[in-house]
Amino acid sequence: MRQLIAGNWKMHGLGGEATVLVEAIRAGANALACELLICPPFTQLVPVAGMLAGSTVSVGGQDCHAAVKGAHTGDISAAMLADAGARFVILGHSERRANHGETDAHVHAKAIAAIAAGLTPIVCVGETEAERTAGWETGVVSGQLAGSVPAGFAGVVAYEPVWAIGTGKSATAADVAAMHLFIRGVLLRQLGPAGGDVRILYGGSVRPANAAELLAVPEVGGALVGGASLVAEDFLAIARAARPG
Ligand code: PGA
Repeated sequence: MRQLIAGNWKMHGLGGEATVLVEAIRAGANALACELLICPPFTQLVPVAGMLAGSTVSVGGQDCHAAVKGAHTGDISAAMLADAGARFVILGHSERRANHGETDAHVHAKAIAAIAAGLTPIVCVGETEAERTAGWETGVVSGQLAGSVPAGFAGVVAYEPVWAIGTGKSATAADVAAMHLFIRGVLLRQLGPAGGDVRILYGGSVRPANAAELLAVPEVGGALVGGASLVAEDFLAIARAARPG
């Protein structure tokens, strides 16, 4: 399976900035060995999807509500994302878990809604620094997978240790190898043979300088990239470091 390099713009990107960034990424996206995905803020989904129409680069949202529609002021449904041109949606990012009180149960319900709307969910898991220091990382991650990933899941999982996000301090290739192997085992137990088809992304301070080493790790199915996805050259350099599928 080809690796997926996903850019999570978070709360960055006014119209002019998005146009410049997407045009540069689109221009460099040909002949890549990986799949590329851009997850802009909601307000840029429609223009970004328009700019990427006919290209090999996909578009995704950064969150969705679990309900199909209704009285949920400020929220966006999975069908709205699909309607705006998204094919993927990031769910349960640690910033949403920490800043919006999202629980595994919320993420589980959102994943079901995303799949029903025809989107591929990217469910994020990962331990905090204190949890790793205490040696609890595998317990935390298996608990998040058990609670967040619904039966019949055919999406993507992103392992993003919280201490590596936006810190410039990525996990080592050895830590990533151990955790991704562990996650694969959990998914196989939880989902049966379908657990073998789930792409497991690594996220947390992925940069051009460490991308090749991290993307070469067995069971790493791609990368979820925050800060470096806002610089076209860096995002494309990470994509060029992907392992040919
Ligand atoms: P970072 O963010 O690449 O800036 O560490 C990754 C993420 O939060 O998805």
